[in-house]
Amino acid sequence: MATSPSDPFKGSSTRLIRAGVAEGQSQKLRTVGPVLQRASTVILESAASLYDETNPTYGMNTLSVHDALRAGLRELEHANHVALFSSGLAACAGAIMAVVQAGDEVLAADCVYGPTRRFCDGLMKRFGVATHYFPATATAEEIDALIGDRTRLIVLESPGSITFEMQDIPAICAVAKRRGVLTMVDNTWAAGLLFRPLDHGADLCVHALTKYVCGHSDVFLGSVATNDSALAARLNSLVRDTGISISPDDAFQAVRGLRTMAVRLERHGTSGIELARWLAHRPETARVLHPALESYSGHALWKRDFTGACGLFGLVLQPAPEAAVHAFLNRLELFGLGFSWGGYESLAIHCDPQIKRTAAPWRAEGPLIRLHVGLEDPADLIADLTAGLAAFSAAA
Ligand SMILES: Cc1ncc(COP(=O)(O)O)c(C=O)c1O
Repeated sequence: MATSPSDPFKGSSTRLIRAGVAEGQSQKLRTVGPVLQRASTVILESAASLYDETNPTYGMNTLSVHDALRAGLRELEHANHVALFSSGLAACAGAIMAVVQAGDEVLAADCVYGPTRRFCDGLMKRFGVATHYFPATATAEEIDALIGDRTRLIVLESPGSITFEMQDIPAICAVAKRRGVLTMVDNTWAAGLLFRPLDHGADLCVHALTKYVCGHSDVFLGSVATNDSALAARLNSLVRDTGISISPDDAFQAVRGLRTMAVRLERHGTSGIELARWLAHRPETARVLHPALESYSGHALWKRDFTGACGLFGLVLQPAPEAAVHAFLNRLELFGLGFSWGGYESLAIHCDPQIKRTAAPWRAEGPLIRLHVGLEDPADLIADLTAGLAAFSAAA
């Protein structure tokens, strides 16, 4: 469609609109990354193909970069089907919405991501779906006893992303399967790579790609993976019916992030363990909540099922007033004070104000800090924490 001297159209606006289109679509060059098309409208071959549903007729989630991302995530999650969502939270909400209907009940671990809990207790409740919470370390047998006639879905997150409790995912999934109940795991901590819930019997695996897949704290994306084609059809219709649309540029960033995630994650993991071990011996520390530490209560489950750790863990400080916590956080220079995690930079937050428990109270010796260990040099991070802990002690 490129204009040429022989193009019959003479109007300068028309010629500007047509110039270069054919060149842009010829894709003669092979590139390392996927082709990045930006499009809402797809130009169809013929009048008959306008309503031919066997091929994409609209650019929403159907461009080549979306296909490239889904292919990468199928590989990552060991999944046959992946649905894309515009954030990790949208993926959590989407997975739940795709499978429940009014009158159903959801059982959820008390430690699930706070906004997922807010979605269940707010919007889902308004739509006639009740959520009941069980203690974050409940056994499969204890969860079995809570399953009722209306239970449709069990929502798990192991380790919990604020408080790091571990659940026995394979055992809980086995019980759920026997009772005809679906299971969904928010697997963001494992980044899809360090633990694969679908291999362990989960029906739906949710991943906030915002974290390690995108990896640079500049994109929101989420995914839900499944090996069940009926669930995949439900997810696809939810995405279609609600108009959830993934920007091709964001999808491109996620594809790019997937290529390097394994090496980044290894560095996050080893630095995180180094800092966790160092913190465990500090006098200001009451407890370190890191699944890879032998001393941690959930360590055996982590060792059995996971192949590594990411850079996110918890630090319970010795009892101290809030002013000491603020002194600690405000003294940090390399650890930014910010929510989210999975980017290349280190982050710290004070968690107590956001911990919500209804099944069993959260018990800790002192204030809870969550650290995300980035890709900086561990020695510099330790120096930063040393200064922060000195400020903590001075204010305690
Ligand atoms: C465990 C977990 N799941 C889901 C999400 C939501 O991801 P997003 O920020 O992309 O909505 C987060 C975000 O912090 C999270 O920590």
